[in-house]
Formats: sequence, structure tokens, C-alpha cells
Amino acid sequence: MSFLVLYLFCLTFTAIVADDEPTFIYPDTFNDAERDSFYYGTFPEDFLWSTATASYQIEGAWNVDGKGPSIWDTFTHEPGNIDNAHNGDDACDSYHKYQDDVNAMKALGLKYYRFSISWSRVLPNGTIDHINQPGIDYYNNLIDALKEADISPMVTLYHWDLPQALQDKGGWKNDEIIEHFADYSRLCFETFGDRVGFWITFNEPWVFTVMGHEYGSMAPGLIEPGTTPYIVAHNLLRSHAKAYHIYDDSYRATQKGQIGITLNSDYYQASDVDDPDTVEAAERAQQFVMGWFANPVYYGDYPDVMKTTIAEKSEKQGFNASRLPEFTEAEKLSLAGSSDFFGFNCYTTSYARPIKNTATPLVPPSWSTDQDVFSWKSPDWPTSGSDWLRPVPWGARRLLNWIKKKYGNPVIYITENGISTNDTFNVNDQIRIDYYSAYLSEVLKAIELDEVNVKGYTAWSLMDNFEWARGYTERFGLHYVDFNSQEKTRVPKDSATFYAKVIADNGFPSSGVQSSLVNGGVKVLVLAVAFVFGMK
Ligand code: GAL
Repeated sequence: MSFLVLYLFCLTFTAIVADDEPTFIYPDTFNDAERDSFYYGTFPEDFLWSTATASYQIEGAWNVDGKGPSIWDTFTHEPGNIDNAHNGDDACDSYHKYQDDVNAMKALGLKYYRFSISWSRVLPNGTIDHINQPGIDYYNNLIDALKEADISPMVTLYHWDLPQALQDKGGWKNDEIIEHFADYSRLCFETFGDRVGFWITFNEPWVFTVMGHEYGSMAPGLIEPGTTPYIVAHNLLRSHAKAYHIYDDSYRATQKGQIGITLNSDYYQASDVDDPDTVEAAERAQQFVMGWFANPVYYGDYPDVMKTTIAEKSEKQGFNASRLPEFTEAEKLSLAGSSDFFGFNCYTTSYARPIKNTATPLVPPSWSTDQDVFSWKSPDWPTSGSDWLRPVPWGARRLLNWIKKKYGNPVIYITENGISTNDTFNVNDQIRIDYYSAYLSEVLKAIELDEVNVKGYTAWSLMDNFEWARGYTERFGLHYVDFNSQEKTRVPKDSATFYAKVIADNGFPSSGVQSSLVNGGVKVLVLAVAFVFGMK
């Protein structure tokens, strides 16, 4: 085994430390005989097993008991924004059926549950002037029910559903939001923090920033490319730092919890690892998605490559200053080190290569063209119910190694991982079992072979729910939900049985879980996974 470890290390993960910034060597994933092997073993003893949801996607009760509207209520009620004109008015009705959720979690054997608080359910107009007691009661009841079931809450403060009243004042474009978010965070720490061990300030700022403010495909639906996304991200990062320090200064000592942020990114694999320009392009893509947020949180400032490129382009485009705002020295200090763990939402991979942009004048400003990168999914990779999501298990291990290298081997919690289908009623979801088993095997390799510090794993999602602009047409759940029924019964899919077994076994002991779930046992499973994922 030790020879294998050394071999893998030398061939695929050797990384050198450059003068100032740690350099990740993009591995040759095209000629790696070991790349798709299945790895059996168990996870560290204190590993946290979890599933996740988000308030707008499951709660329903959008205008009940004093809740104020959020930008997602507004966005979904505008015709044309969501497939089939679906909305989250009722969703899984978790506002009333949270005990069913907890029961489903109990059956899975979960140790943790990641959910988010709807800001406008507790503060209907977004500000601390009016606290909505029924909203507070709801989260207290949920947290107590979880505790009763021996499940610890991991709470996201912001999973995209900004109170509409704050959007009306400019939303994340207006830096007054920093104080409002601080008030909201303080209220949550004060009210729920005695029972919450993990706080996540923001879920996937990249998605919210770019989809909501550059492409307009998510709430608040703004199409203001190349300027607004950078301002929104800037205010969001400053809000994150402020909330982190509120917790650190006033609550950590008594509540003894942790606080961090959750980031997402594809793994961007250089399509030609022997071409330095292509490798640079892959790195640029990684920095423009993940580094944009992780660098400030770990090092206090945006990645150099973003600062230089955006400043140069802004000048050529006739802007007086860079479209990427600058942090003050005080802000840099307050941001650096403002996360107790690296929350990582892990889904898929893209190939990347450079675009040589020679157009004069330069293309109109946008986050997407600022990078000069072309990225794509291989048509050879299997598909899912979502066009952006192709299962590429090996990419997960590489991106975990990228995070380790870039941010000093932080504690990582995988705060989401999952796959969608477009079916209506199907509880025989072998595709999901194949996805989870193959991704978990890569996570285990990262822990055992690469010494990446992954301490927990979260399956997205506990149950089918409102999948943003795709409405209910894409299902990610371990449990099936019939959205047309009043009861919205949570029916376990095969993947729920599978996940419960993985949790009970704390992974894949060499004999056990796999053979009982896949015909023919361990060896056949390896072949089956290899087949499903198009491995050679
Ligand atoms: C994430 C998001 C979740 C869920 C998931 C599947 O980006 O945080 O809310 O929608 O993707 O698309």
C-alpha cells in the first residue's frame, strides 16, 4: 500500500511551493491507471454524516404566520422565470411537516442536519425593528426536535432568500446590507446558538452572485454583468467577516460552536497538462470561481490573477478604476482567517483551456469574459437530470487536493454532494447510489492517500425539493416527495437505504455494504461503477 501511496503522490499530486503562492500541479488525469479504482475502507471515527436542505426549497408556507416575502417569492411569482411556472409556495411544506423530516433523518442514522434559516421568516422586512415570533418558534421547534433525535444542527444563515424589503433598498449592491446581516446573524446566534454547533454564513456566494446578478437566471434576476457581481460579492464578503467576528467576540466562548462559509466550484481540469497556457487557464477558472471567495476568507484579499486581469481590462474598457473593488487594510485583516472550516459543495468537473481574446474593442465587461477561459464538459461523461451536472468522481479528489494546497490544509466539511434525475415517481435510483458510492470513494482516497483533512460529508438532499429555476423538474432527494399531494409524504428511495448503510458502517468496510446492495458483490460493484462512469 505504501508503494501505491508514494506512486500516486509522485505521479498525480506532486505540488511545489512557488515564491509566494502555493502552486497546484494539474495532474495528468488522462493517463492515470488508478484514477477510477474503487477504494474500500472506513472514514475517520468522528466523521460527520449529514444531509442538507435550504429554507426556500423545502419550507413552503411562504406567506404564513407573519413571514415577509423574499426575493425568491418575488422571482418565482413573475411569469417566465421558472420552468412550468413552479414556485416554492408549498414546496415540501416543512414548515408544518418538520417532524416528518426529522423522522426521515432518524431512519438514515444521521448525526448532523444542514438546513438554512429564512431571513424574512424571522425578520419580515429584513431589519431588526420587527422580530416575527412565530418564525423564531418554528426554528426553535425544529432545532429541539433534532436534538431530541440526537441530530446536531448545522445552520446556514443565507441560502439565497434575501428579504424582498432589503432588495427594494438595493439588496447586496447597497453596503447598508452589512449592518442588516450583522443584526440578523446576531439575532440567530443569540436565539438558537445554545444548540447550534456549526454556523455557515453564506451558501455558495458564487451562484447567488453570478446567476442572480450577471445572468439573471436566479433571484433577484438582475442582468448587470461585469460590475454588479463584483460589488455584490464584495459586500457579501464584508458581511461574512462581520458576522464571523460577532460570533467570535460574543458567542464562541459560551456557545463553543464553529463558524465558516460554504463555497462551490467545478474542478477545472487543464485539458492539456503539458501546455503551460492551458494549465494557467484552468488555474484562472478555479480562482475566478472558488478563489474569488476563498482567498479573501483565508488570506484577506482577492486572488492576484483577478486583481490584475480585471484592472487591466477595466482600463481598456474606459473605466476610471478596476471593476473589482478593493478592500481597506482593516477589512483585509478582518477577513483573513475568518472561517473555522472550509465548507465545500461538490458536484462536478469541467475541462478548461484559454481563450485568446483579440477583439477590439474588448468584449463588453462581464465576469465570464474577464477570465479568458473556455470550459466544457466532456460528452463522454455520463449525464444527470441537470445540464450542468455530470458525474466525474475523480474531479472531487483533485479539487479537494487543490483546496488543501491553496489554503494550508484546512478542515473541510463537504456541505453538499448529490445528483439529479428528471423522473416523476421512481424510488429505484441506482444512478444516485452509483454517484454517492463513487464520490465517497474519492473522498476516502483524498483522506487516506492524500491526507486531505475532510471531516464530514453531506448528501444533497434529504428529499426532493424546489430546485430553483428548474422548479420541481429536477429531483435530488434521498426521499421521494409527491408535490401534488397534500401530505407530501417522504418516501425513502433505494439511495436512502444505501446511505443509511454507509453511515452505519462509517464507509465501505472491505466486506459488507456494497455486496448487499449491488448484485454479485464487491468485484461486480467495481465493474458496475466503472461501467456507469465510463471508466476504461
Ligand atoms: C447547490 C445549492 C442547492 C441545490 C443544489 C443542487 O448549488 O446550494 O440549493 O440546489 O445545488 O442544484
